Amino acid sequence: MVKILILNKKVIQELNKKLRYWRVTMEKGDVGVVGLGVMGYGFAMNFEDKGYTVSITNWEKDILRKLKKTETNRNLIISEDLEGFVQSLDKPRKIFLFVKAGKPTENTINKLIPLLDKGDILIDGGNTHYKDSINKTNEIEKYGIYYIGMGVSGGEEGARHGASLMPGGSPIAYKQIELMLSDIAAKAPQDDEPCVTYIGPKGSGHFTKIVHNGIEYGDIQLIAEAYFIMRYSLYLPVEKIASYFKEWNAGELNSYLIEITSKILSTYDDKTGKPMVDVILDRAGSKGTGKWASQIALDLHMPLSVTTEAVFIRYLSELKDQRIEASKILTSPNIDEASVNVEEYVEQIRRALYFAKIISYAQGFALYSRANEEYGWELDNYKIAKIFRSGCVIRAELLDKIANAYQMNNKLSNILQNDYFSSVVNSYQKEARTVVADSIKNGVPVTGLASAIGYFDNYRLEKISANLIQAQRDYFGAHTFERVDEEGSFHHKW
Ligand code: 6PG
Repeated sequence: MVKILILNKKVIQELNKKLRYWRVTMEKGDVGVVGLGVMGYGFAMNFEDKGYTVSITNWEKDILRKLKKTETNRNLIISEDLEGFVQSLDKPRKIFLFVKAGKPTENTINKLIPLLDKGDILIDGGNTHYKDSINKTNEIEKYGIYYIGMGVSGGEEGARHGASLMPGGSPIAYKQIELMLSDIAAKAPQDDEPCVTYIGPKGSGHFTKIVHNGIEYGDIQLIAEAYFIMRYSLYLPVEKIASYFKEWNAGELNSYLIEITSKILSTYDDKTGKPMVDVILDRAGSKGTGKWASQIALDLHMPLSVTTEAVFIRYLSELKDQRIEASKILTSPNIDEASVNVEEYVEQIRRALYFAKIISYAQGFALYSRANEEYGWELDNYKIAKIFRSGCVIRAELLDKIANAYQMNNKLSNILQNDYFSSVVNSYQKEARTVVADSIKNGVPVTGLASAIGYFDNYRLEKISANLIQAQRDYFGAHTFERVDEEGSFHHKW
């Protein structure tokens, strides 16, 4: 009986995929979406496009009334209250929450729980902190209701047409939503594989998203520095810089963020006719996930320096008023006016950027491995790299290479130990050093690029200066040290 019902549903979903102008309507919703902001709305329509009947609701009722009028030929069940919404769903209910993280999500969950049945599944697709995600799972699963904490990347476009999805929680619950997630996820252009995989137990999905965002912060910062050098060291016009980013996007730097940077730099303000980038105030916002990534790295004793510098530079950018004052009293160095071959120098910047990008991804993926040791998870860096290949903000050609590296060796402690990556960073370090040294000499800020070199230089050395740190700690605080020639813990009477 149940089998026939599932079969019928599938047939109906297939029909709906094919029929554009009329719809086979089922009585119950296959999936529910609470919260019709850009993400929730995009997910609801994406599900509907794929043949699902979607129950939707929202705190703000106007949008529901509008949809009732405009979306008449879509398979939507629109409810103005949570009770009606819950009743409209087929069991076990699969409910996606796209309500603002924090209090609003909490309120929605508290109101939903008494209306749900054992075995129903709540999927939180917001940028929730992974520790909250763990707590919520514990709380909700006491009622026999499943909670999946799902990282989602790709913004409005991803939600609507395919995002990268990072679900973590009960594998039993995941199995029941696996197919629908595969249907709505982005598909990697290389092999059409859906950008979704079971990430691991409670909290791990949102953890994966936080580190993704840390990498996103690093990428954005490094790209901004490359732009800044071209603009203010090489004095290139904005349209020329746009064309270099476009060229770079055709090579090993190919990525969504390089692509949009080229498009951004080719866009002009209607009001002033100036490049858009010149009418935007240099004060960067941040919603907190980059900070969370850095906090996690600090807690787990892992260097995530490119992300962390990126967070700090956003904070420094907030000090606009102080910077205006400082610019009147703090001076630039004498600029080295050495003439360079622009084409050659731009190629050096490109290599410096690729070098630093590799370091930043190396740091992020090493953090996943560290989390496995800490939490007993089995985050699979191969699978994570694969689901980042499309849909998400950090999608890049590089991710295929990262996936290959972990496929060859799933115990790889750091991608810099892989042949491809070690050979690139060994060879591109020269250009990275030239660009960073020149910029520092000329007072052009390259904090992200420099931190990548700093990480590389410490990571590649068998011996670093930490022995002197240990000696000082032992001198002033008897904190003890290990010896190079004997096991144990020692203190010296200095
Ligand atoms: C994504 C993004 C997204 C994030 C924005 C804003 O993967 O789609 O990471 O989730 O919220 O990029 O982040 P900031 O405001 O912190 O820059």
